[in-house]
Amino acid sequence: MIRLLTPADEPLLWEMLYQAIHVPEGSPPPPRDIVHRPELSRYVQGWGQLDDLGVVALQEGEAAGAAWLRRLTGALRGYGHVDDETPELAIALLPQHRGRGLGTRLLTSLLDTARNRYPAISLSVSPDNPATRLYRRLGFIDAGRNGTSLTLVLALSAQRGSTPVRP
Ligand SMILES: CC(C)(COP(=O)(O)OP(=O)(O)OC[C@H]1O[C@@H](n2cnc3c(N)ncnc32)[C@H](O)[C@@H]1OP(=O)(O)O)[C@@H](O)C(=O)NCCC(=O)NCCS
Repeated sequence: MIRLLTPADEPLLWEMLYQAIHVPEGSPPPPRDIVHRPELSRYVQGWGQLDDLGVVALQEGEAAGAAWLRRLTGALRGYGHVDDETPELAIALLPQHRGRGLGTRLLTSLLDTARNRYPAISLSVSPDNPATRLYRRLGFIDAGRNGTSLTLVLALSAQRGSTPVRP
């Protein structure tokens, strides 16, 4: 099941933010408190603002992953900033749920929900992250670079998808 995120889901998003950090193969995982660095915490801190939009995937009642959008502007710009109207995407599944199509379903659901709210969304991804394949498959295109990371953008049309999202 996939449902919309609520303000009460902020603790879950801190975990998913940690899981979203790309760790190159063979590298040790970063410390857990890395998510509280300002450049990362801005994706989650105070979740539930007017423009925030996200979904969580539940497997047997437990959160398996989440995908969320937030507009990060001014001094709070994120890694994938393209303009102040375009929210940035963050997405992660717990490791045991990866590679089985759940991320595709989760992201497709979020995109369907976001079409009515935003003209486009952006993200930042390391070129060696296999998630770039998923993004390109769903239509994201290059919009520049930020350091060594790629910035990708997806224009959202009013076309409706078919994946239901429960409030
Ligand atoms: C990125 C992520 C949400 C994708 O969800 P997923 O369920 O693993 O992906 P799916 O099974 O739906 O789709 C698989 C596609 O994603 C790619 N992929 C990304 N991460 C993958 C992983 N860890 N394992 C397997 N495939 C992965 C595959 O290349 C595959 O592409 P293809 O269908 O063209 O062959 C998930 O793998 C994840 O949480 N990864 C770690 C966090 C992360 O990198 N977040 C993105 C930061 S920009």
